[in-house]
Amino acid sequence: MARKPATPRVLVLNGPNLNMLGVRDPAVYGTATLAEIEALCAARAATLGLALDFRQTNSEGTLIDWVQAARGSAAGIVINPAGLSHSSVSLLDALLLTELPVIEVHLSNIHRREPFRHHSYVSQVATGVIAGLGPRGYGLALEAMAGLLAAREKATEKGTVR
Ligand code: DQA
Repeated sequence: MARKPATPRVLVLNGPNLNMLGVRDPAVYGTATLAEIEALCAARAATLGLALDFRQTNSEGTLIDWVQAARGSAAGIVINPAGLSHSSVSLLDALLLTELPVIEVHLSNIHRREPFRHHSYVSQVATGVIAGLGPRGYGLALEAMAGLLAAREKATEKGTVR
């Protein structure tokens, strides 16, 4: 009898200053608050059959601790690393260590902004990057993650992935 796969737990991590959404530069980041983005993610995760763990921190160390803890406890990571995208080799190293699928999200299109935002260390480990679509990008990232996890599950059943 085919076993029913457990509900995959997906971490949605948000880096520094994203707690200020709603008041932070609305011309760039829009008017949605992080709580509203979390609600959007919760609704999307429910329809996709994912268990959502949504978090934000202003601390690079805390973000790295969460990423490390995801190894063995989460199925995948959706991350908006915020300013740490452009500066943190340590966050990249932690994400590499987890060996989990990663999707990177930015509310704004970082490639249309200042040159220092054009490079993201995190992109090096991300399966995909969504930038410039506002809060909708989070929903699209969850949808893509559900697809990646389903494909992985199928490959595991066939014995092509262990
Ligand atoms: C951001 C883009 C980053 O360059 C910036 O530092 C942020 C937010 C975005 O979601 O568009 O804090 O990640």
